[in-house]
Amino acid sequence: MHTVVQHPLLQHRLAILRATKTDPKLFRELVHEMTRLIAFEALRDLPTVPVSVRTPMGDAAGVKIEGHVVVAPILRAGMGMLDPMLELLPYATAGVIGTKRNEETAEPIPYYLNLPKPFPDSYVALVDPMLATGGSACDAIATLKKNGFQRIVFLNIIACPEGIARVEREHPDVPIFTAAIDDHLNDRHYIVPGLGDAGDRLFGTL
Ligand code: PRP
Ligand code: URA
Repeated sequence: MHTVVQHPLLQHRLAILRATKTDPKLFRELVHEMTRLIAFEALRDLPTVPVSVRTPMGDAAGVKIEGHVVVAPILRAGMGMLDPMLELLPYATAGVIGTKRNEETAEPIPYYLNLPKPFPDSYVALVDPMLATGGSACDAIATLKKNGFQRIVFLNIIACPEGIARVEREHPDVPIFTAAIDDHLNDRHYIVPGLGDAGDRLFGTL
């Protein structure tokens, strides 16, 4: 299942994010704001329990988010989406997945992993702004599952048909929320029109 979040507050920022002239500072700010907007849709099914709160006028029925929420960025570019997620989920833990694509083949090369202990009710929000061949996301999801995490949602900013198809084929249980599904991958496995290399644009390493 995949959802393209169409809200104008998100799509307006996406157009600026893509622009070549957008510098790393603005790029980071936009990724931060866009992550919060995508999360608004993607985290709709976060488990909650009812609570009662005392107001100055009486008791009101409310809810509280319940369970172990984990925010899992795929390094490097996913780091840009970590802080806004932790702002929304201050009691979440973070699990870090380091994966770098081979520049020729686009095969993901895992180089770092640090995950919290899984619980039966763990809910993982996997974050990475780019979904190209789908290799990195599928590898990260397989790693999460191997480590005991079953309930996973993937938050992304720009996807393409190839990446969506691969995640849906290999992990049909993982919903994808994105701001765009672009046209295609080029022969270097970059998304077209995309925004170039998200890690380089976030961290100024072009
Ligand atoms: C980018 C991006 C994704 C991956 C997507 O990371 O952040 O993790 O490519 O491509 P895929 O769907 O074909 O796997 P990259 O490997 O370039 O590492 P970086 O973030 O450290 O630059
Ligand atoms: N990774 C990126 O950062 N950009 C792409 O277009 C594809 C993979």
